[in-house]
Amino acid sequence: MVTINNRYFNKVEIMIYRPIVIDEEIVFSKKKFIVSKTDLKGNILFINKNFCEISGYSEEELIGVNHNALRHPDMPRSIFYLIWSSLLAGKEVSGVIKNLAKDGRYYWVIADFSPKKDARGTITSLTAFRRAAPDQVIEEIEDLYATMLKIEKKHGMEGSLSYLEAFLEEHELSYDDFLGELVKPKGIIATLLSAFKKMFS
Ligand SMILES: Cc1cc2nc3c(=O)[nH]c(=O)nc-3n(C[C@H](O)[C@H](O)[C@H](O)COP(=O)(O)O)c2cc1C
Repeated sequence: MVTINNRYFNKVEIMIYRPIVIDEEIVFSKKKFIVSKTDLKGNILFINKNFCEISGYSEEELIGVNHNALRHPDMPRSIFYLIWSSLLAGKEVSGVIKNLAKDGRYYWVIADFSPKKDARGTITSLTAFRRAAPDQVIEEIEDLYATMLKIEKKHGMEGSLSYLEAFLEEHELSYDDFLGELVKPKGIIATLLSAFKKMFS
């Protein structure tokens, strides 16, 4: 059970919502930004209208539910491990994520995660700002994730993290540099995204 605003939510509900995966993409405008805010365990506290529209879930269905309700089986566990490690260390981090919509379709996003801190520097909540991932980003990351997932199934998360490390070493990049190049917003999208982030920070 989790409690939010004195209401009780049963985590088991997540299991009920899990859709059957369909290999069909939801394509959405790159000007449609998606935001969600969670507690320190990833339980959803807030989602915006675009989140509902694109994922197919209503606010009532998702508030209080863990964010892993949208986890797509094609996503390697180690990517979330890296995201959570940064966030809980108080650092911003980005990621390219394939999400599972309510109807079983998928949508790719570039997500910028940010920890919110109080005056003492204690993390109080976590926010993710997402935008549509361009085709060339998806192309680049899809093969990498597929390989990581295969390794993960055989050798666990340690195996896929080692593979990622070797992949980055070969390209002489850190994870942050690799992602930075891949996900940096450009032109008008950068301006719009920056304004959007200010609205929800
Ligand atoms: C602010 C925030 C937003 C998140 N957004 C997503 C998301 O859109 N899709 C997703 O699969 N996981 C998201 N996660 C990560 C999930 O909490 C979870 O770690 C992930 O789905 C893997 O689930 P599992 O550890 O139960 O396998 C988010 C986490 C945080 C803190």
